Amino acid sequence: MDLRTYGGQPFEEEYVSSITEARAARLAEPDRGEFLSLTRALETPSSRAGDDDRMLARLGGLASRADAYDPAPPTAGPGDEPLERNHMPAQSNDGVREQYSPGYGEDLVGSYQERSVGREAAFLRSFLRSGMKLLDCGCGPGSITVGLGQLVSPGEVHGVDVEPSQIAIASARQQEAGVANLRFEVGSVYALSFPDDTFDVVFMHAILQHLREPLAALREARRVLRPGGVVGVRDDDLGSLVLSPTNPDMDRLIEILGRIMQRSGGNPYVGRTHRRLLREAGFSRVRGSASSECDGTPEATTTRGDLGASLLAHMSDDIVAQNWATVAQVERMIAASKAWGRDPDAYDVITWCEAVGWKES
Ligand SMILES: C[S@@+](CC[C@H](N)C(=O)[O-])C[C@H]1O[C@@H](n2cnc3c(N)ncnc32)[C@H](O)[C@@H]1O
Repeated sequence: MDLRTYGGQPFEEEYVSSITEARAARLAEPDRGEFLSLTRALETPSSRAGDDDRMLARLGGLASRADAYDPAPPTAGPGDEPLERNHMPAQSNDGVREQYSPGYGEDLVGSYQERSVGREAAFLRSFLRSGMKLLDCGCGPGSITVGLGQLVSPGEVHGVDVEPSQIAIASARQQEAGVANLRFEVGSVYALSFPDDTFDVVFMHAILQHLREPLAALREARRVLRPGGVVGVRDDDLGSLVLSPTNPDMDRLIEILGRIMQRSGGNPYVGRTHRRLLREAGFSRVRGSASSECDGTPEATTTRGDLGASLLAHMSDDIVAQNWATVAQVERMIAASKAWGRDPDAYDVITWCEAVGWKES
């Protein structure tokens, strides 16, 4: 093992001593003393052939143990600003290519299929009337869209998503539910296929956080909204996540999920900026509200823990490529997430930020 590496990356000479100290500080005695004396011994030539190899092997084992909880150093690059809990990153994602980071894994999409108008669109409910024409942008597998269709029937609901597989699932769900007033199509929220002033309501659930240009998307939403129409947006804000019990692996997992989202062009803290974004997009009478989502039963925490594990597994190549964690550290985090979910005391809660705004008549 080359001791001048850390998280798999080579380091310049001047970093080596501070890394050695930091590593030693994470070891308990007597390992700490042994680690330091081996480091010193290896700085001078050995008297017996083979000594160096044996000492290096032992030192490597101690260093790996010390590194087990230590974050790999982030490499500088677009979207790599350090994310701290409750820290608002710079809005600019210049140079970052937008990519939908969670992907479309079966369990994740399955969790979206549990969503409903009654919960996810409750903040918008009082503005919905039978006969309205509504657009659901980034509708995903359509569970909320189908409910919206039932609510505004005989009005029309259109669901748009950039991902064909999601539109296929949503259409199948529509067939199953026998709701006739729904139309699904593949499309981008940045360039909707509808003429100006088409809809009474535009709904955007859990999509702004994934967009590199949320303001452009909101301007496009405003374009297709008729004068007097209302937009409703809802995103969870990672800074509001409270989780117990916690440990360094879980803390790191959450930090990395935020980094991945930012790296993909999104913003895990967009929820708190809804009011500003809506105002800047030209909406008036903008009002914010909030609701929370918690996991507080063994079934719910197990599902959440497994979901965190599978999200991480899906993103593991990217995480390692970015040098945010080693393969072994990713595996530890996956195991930690599953174990957390099965802890009888596990509990988590996150705030969903919501806002409505109007296109003036
Ligand atoms: C987190 S899912 C939410 C799905 C659904 N709104 C829900 O809450 O169940 C986000 C969805 O936004 C879609 N999406 C991402 N970028 C998009 C874009 N530029 N235009 C349209 N849809 C997009 C993704 O394909 C994904 O299905």
